[in-house]
Amino acid sequence: MRRVIIAGNWKMYKTPQEGVEMVNDFLPLVKNAKCEAILFPSFLTYDAVKQATNGSNVAVGVQNMHWETEGAFTGEVSPAMLKSMDCEWVIIGHSERRQYFGETDETVNKKLLSALTNNINFILCVGESLVTRENGNAKGFVGDQVKAAVEGFSTDQALKLIVAYEPIWAIGTGKTASKEDAQDMCKHIRLALATEFSEEVAQKISILYGGSVKGDNISELMNQGDIDGALVGGASLQADSFAKIVNY
Ligand code: PGA
Repeated sequence: MRRVIIAGNWKMYKTPQEGVEMVNDFLPLVKNAKCEAILFPSFLTYDAVKQATNGSNVAVGVQNMHWETEGAFTGEVSPAMLKSMDCEWVIIGHSERRQYFGETDETVNKKLLSALTNNINFILCVGESLVTRENGNAKGFVGDQVKAAVEGFSTDQALKLIVAYEPIWAIGTGKTASKEDAQDMCKHIRLALATEFSEEVAQKISILYGGSVKGDNISELMNQGDIDGALVGGASLQADSFAKIVNY
């Protein structure tokens, strides 16, 4: 069946030392987890966290990458550099990258194709703003984001997709989408994937929900037919709160 993934996006929080402290508390709490747990620290904190999770059931990735192998791109990190650090996961197209750092559907697509070429697993983020939702255009907008992101994907490549639906108005606001709204959009994303590829392919792709996921709302979200996991920001920063979600 579909992969069940619970991922923690640490954003611009935690020094290497703070990351290791969290992981040392976290690992014993999730050693019997039934899902795949992945932590996404900053580039600088990545290696310390990677070492600290060595031999455990928790994977580690980073929150962004450039699509080129190398070049004059000040401040960027390449897929080759990530591979050299045994990095197996990357988040692509988080709404904060799109909103504050000029990421577009085109750069998201380039990054995804590059991650595929470089054999790095990825979580593609999509999601609408409050204005778009209030205008009644959320599904159209998110469907277009998905379509643009997977431009040029083969069927085999589509099977490597992990998508996270994160409505921007629910991120860091404490306002989780209702389980019905989250399910409705995740189902719509699966439909969009079926249109792009096939129903069979779409049924195999894991779709996560993100936006104010907490220990007390994870179970009802995970009970929805088209939600296969979660991408968690704030509540992934503390070992006990994230363990509660991973052990939902
Ligand atoms: P949040 O962040 O859980 O703090 O809302 C989610 C995310 O940005 O991935």
